[in-house]
Amino acid sequence: MNVLEIIESKKRGRELDEAQLAALVDGFTAGTVPEYQMAAFLMAVWFRGMTAAETAALTGAMLRSGEELDTSGLPSPSADKHSTGGVGDKVSLLLAPLAAACGLCVPMLSGRGLGHTGGTLDKLEAIPGYRIHLDNRGFLKIVAEQGCAIVGQSGSIAPADGRIYALRDVTATVDCVPLITASIMSKKLAAGPRTIVIDLKTGSGAFMTDLDRARELATALVAVGRSYGRTMAVVFSDMDQPLGRMIGHAVETIEAFAALRPGGRERAPADLVELTGELTAEMVRGAGLVPDLAAARVRVRAAWDDGSAYARLLAWVAAQDGRLDPDREDFSLVTAPLATEITAPRDGWLAAVDCRALGLALADMKGARRKVDDPLDLSCGLEFLPRVGDRLAKGDVIARVFCSRKDEAEAAAKRALAALAFSAEEAPARPLILERLG
Ligand code: URA
Repeated sequence: MNVLEIIESKKRGRELDEAQLAALVDGFTAGTVPEYQMAAFLMAVWFRGMTAAETAALTGAMLRSGEELDTSGLPSPSADKHSTGGVGDKVSLLLAPLAAACGLCVPMLSGRGLGHTGGTLDKLEAIPGYRIHLDNRGFLKIVAEQGCAIVGQSGSIAPADGRIYALRDVTATVDCVPLITASIMSKKLAAGPRTIVIDLKTGSGAFMTDLDRARELATALVAVGRSYGRTMAVVFSDMDQPLGRMIGHAVETIEAFAALRPGGRERAPADLVELTGELTAEMVRGAGLVPDLAAARVRVRAAWDDGSAYARLLAWVAAQDGRLDPDREDFSLVTAPLATEITAPRDGWLAAVDCRALGLALADMKGARRKVDDPLDLSCGLEFLPRVGDRLAKGDVIARVFCSRKDEAEAAAKRALAALAFSAEEAPARPLILERLG
């Protein structure tokens, strides 16, 4: 196969076939296609786009560059959720055991955070002893026995994606719907779930800031998933304010786990409860455990309130050697002391939040990475109290900053305050779930 012809075809806007895309990805993985040719191809895709068939074929080629987990032996239907990432997004930590308690098997591969968004894997590392690396057999054994497991993606899962993503990062080709779709779906399909629910976040704290682009991505993700025989659903959720109250690793993990404690659903932030419940219900419905979404919601609420989701959580974490002390409010996770508080500078309404800046405030305290190899402080965090549309009086506490280093806490507090817009007029509250697809 002539790589130059493949690049030339894409440059002219012609449709590539499965064999051409496989040859390109296989050659790149094997080292026979050099980076400069792959970079030229990626830029041609950025300008010319891809048809649905091409996107599915590219996904398949990237998927087959590594191992695919065989979930056919799991005792219950398998389902997973993927979030496009946001600030305060701790949903996976409670959704996985909740879905397990509803009768699903959840084999979840997670990633680390970069930039202003957090990663589930980093949050799990705040649990003493928790093993994020398991071999595939050990991983699937825990999923079969406990109903869920969450591990880091090993280098054997879609390795072509890792290398292509690194090239996209330095060739200005990250923001391209077919490339994003192939990247996300090659990894998601490799873990083998039959139902995939996407939490597509839009807004200032999200990777997709506008809804039209998010719709384009959702359509492409659903088309690829279906072409591989998966049941797909997309929930578009708002990321123009943080999800829940906590932003940071240990503090988010505590908030997520506390929500599953007996009576926790009533005490937990309403947006976290709503989004987790809806995404889990979509998984339950998609897997065919119940006939419709109303019945799925009933099942989710029962598993949440009867303590079975909490029992699953403790069993799953213990199976991955994590040490949680359920008798302690903080489950024995290490959190930094309260360093400072942010208060409302005047009377008025909270009108808008630059969510990305709140994520960067965490980075000011080394709680988020600016570069892939930055070390993280898992103990620091922010507690952000109001919601957009809330009325505030001068002096009301808006946020608490937890950090062991006063100067970094002050810098984070300054950035967080600058991220907020206040209005003298009543400001509308923001809806959480914007629309659905699938
Ligand atoms: N997340 C991914 O995994 N890949 C992309 O290309 C973008 C977001």
